[in-house]
Amino acid sequence: ADEPLVLGIETSCDETGVGIVRGHTLLADAIASSVDEHARFGGVVPEVASRAHLEAMVPTIQRALKDAGIKASDLDGVAVTAGPGLAGALLVGVAAAKAYAYALGKPLYGVNHLASHICVDQLEHGALPEPTMALLVSGGHSSLLLAPDITSDVRPLGATIDDAAGEAFDKVARVLGLGFPGGPAIDRQARDGDPAAIAFPRGLTGGRDPLYDFSFSGLKTAVARWVEARQRAGEDVPVADVAASFQEAVVDVLTRKAVRACKDNGVDHLMIGGGVAANSRLRALAAQRCEDRGITLRVPRPKLCTDNGAMVAALGAEMVARGRAPSALDLPADSSLPV
Ligand code: KG4
Ligand code: ZN
Repeated sequence: ADEPLVLGIETSCDETGVGIVRGHTLLADAIASSVDEHARFGGVVPEVASRAHLEAMVPTIQRALKDAGIKASDLDGVAVTAGPGLAGALLVGVAAAKAYAYALGKPLYGVNHLASHICVDQLEHGALPEPTMALLVSGGHSSLLLAPDITSDVRPLGATIDDAAGEAFDKVARVLGLGFPGGPAIDRQARDGDPAAIAFPRGLTGGRDPLYDFSFSGLKTAVARWVEARQRAGEDVPVADVAASFQEAVVDVLTRKAVRACKDNGVDHLMIGGGVAANSRLRALAAQRCEDRGITLRVPRPKLCTDNGAMVAALGAEMVARGRAPSALDLPADSSLPV
């Protein structure tokens, strides 16, 4: 049988993404981002994101179809992020997907944003082994997920109890005057810094702390206090050392807990996704710790780690391939959709 040809729409945050895949093959990954419009606010503004999605939706669908070189009538389904995410932003994508699926007479597949962050790796490394362990780290989420079945059974083992990892990068970057989004800037600065220069706290790593949950708010505050103390004393802030030490504290905890979760659950594959998976130190330390423990690490290329439409199409194609039931045309957008 031919592999399913699916178009996926992603609008849970500030990227309008439309991807097209055939099975595990990526055919198009069109993106329109409103990140520049949010930069002057230092974070994503929901109303601005919704309006930008509305303006970008039709042109982005058209660009994806053109890039893929396919006819919309050949699609086997239209997939869309049903949640979690920003309510108004999700609504734009869900309404567009419904209208498009209905007009084409194709089945609609509402998918979970976190599950599609995992499934996207099939476009990079082929079929995901099951169960797979996933560490998802972005500006909106930081979770450890165990996925016995990517289309129907994804279990949260732990999550952040306060800030997401990417949020911590963004806030610390602001303290250091590095701009938004902060992750890439800190990653760059850290290359010239000493990760052992300052001993910043590792959240929730004490003996009685929850094994798989994360906390980055205390770390963020510790960095801000350290920088303020320097400034008050009239001393220069060693930006590269602060960036490297902060980054090390984040990725040390992320990789330690992810590897621990694999071992505890007898899983020998770890995938890392979400925008923070682009972080060079996270990739290096995860590779090292996985190799030490015989775990195969799968990290998609950075463009597939951040929010995009291809990941939605990838999960939609998997649902078609496994004969999962499509969604009804009254599919709701659910900002707090659980996995
Ligand atoms: O997945 P994503 O594009 O959007 C969501 O938040 O859902 O992730 C964006 C986040 C931002 O917080 C950004 O600072 C962070 O990913 N990020 C990074 C890097 N590149 C992006 N964080 C650390 N190092 C990076 N190289
Ligand atoms: Zn995301």
